[in-house]
Amino acid sequence: MKIAVAGKGGVGKTLVAAGLAWLFARRGFRTIAVDADPTPNLGVSLGLTIQEASSILPISENADLIESKTRTGFPGVYSLTFSVEDIIRNYAVPTPSGVQLLVMGTVKSMGSGCTCAANTVLRSLIRHLVVDRDEALVLDMEAGLEHLGRGTAEGVDLMLVVTDANAKSLETARVVTRMARESGVPNVFIAGNRIDSEDEMRIVSSFAQETGSRLIGTIPYDHAVMKAGITADPVMVLEGTPAMQEIERMTESILSGTDNQGKPEKSPMGKNTI
Ligand SMILES: Nc1ncnc2c1ncn2[C@@H]1O[C@H](COP(=O)(O)OP(=O)(O)OP(=O)(O)O)[C@@H](O)[C@H]1O
Ligand SMILES: [Mg+2]
Repeated sequence: MKIAVAGKGGVGKTLVAAGLAWLFARRGFRTIAVDADPTPNLGVSLGLTIQEASSILPISENADLIESKTRTGFPGVYSLTFSVEDIIRNYAVPTPSGVQLLVMGTVKSMGSGCTCAANTVLRSLIRHLVVDRDEALVLDMEAGLEHLGRGTAEGVDLMLVVTDANAKSLETARVVTRMARESGVPNVFIAGNRIDSEDEMRIVSSFAQETGSRLIGTIPYDHAVMKAGITADPVMVLEGTPAMQEIERMTESILSGTDNQGKPEKSPMGKNTI
């Protein structure tokens, strides 16, 4: 199963991505977490120290790897067919959570220095990685929308759009949801986060209804999450907290709604329900 976690900056994407990845790994899935944020910090949430996390060379900055994968002999022409399995084997970093971490790094868009070759490698990674029944890939995406235009999320089975009740977060969530559907992502679900009142719960759930999306969970505001952020503690310390209990329920919903191929089922109507 390939799951992408998207949404506006600061809504809780890394909390959700790290939580899901850890819980998948704990259930015995071989789990790869991909940090696609230009300022990567998923590693710390998965138990690496800040020093360990910052010493990882992101794939996009690994010029030798990018070159060797995409070289055709013609300048400006990139090979689109290359194997990606060895990238996981050689560059994924084990973390104390049991999740293998792959740091993608920044892929600048066209106009800000062409990194098309790096982008090609990253897109192919997500698209062509074959994820078996007992494997999971969780992608912690860059905040906002721009990356969706680069097709990074093409080939994912499930897009979790994280939002709080803030009007601006909901607006971003609306556009992310639309773009994910337009790129053919079969399941686009909403995950409410930092929900602190009945009112906020109502706002997020009517948003999900309005956009025709399934609300897969509503994670409460939880001081333990804030505290773990301050002390740079991993998601594992959140075990048993209200926030992590809700992420566990979300994991179960995702797993119970999967068919034999390990992919979330599409309803006969093609609607975004499991
Ligand atoms: N449910 C919650 N309860 C309390 N604090 C939370 C909750 N979820 C997230 N936070 C806090 O909000 C901040 C942002 O969370 P997080 O880093 O997961 O968001 P993000 O969407 O990944 O941000 P960015 O866009 O910067 O990558 C962190 O300080 C985190 O501890
Ligand atoms: Mg983040």
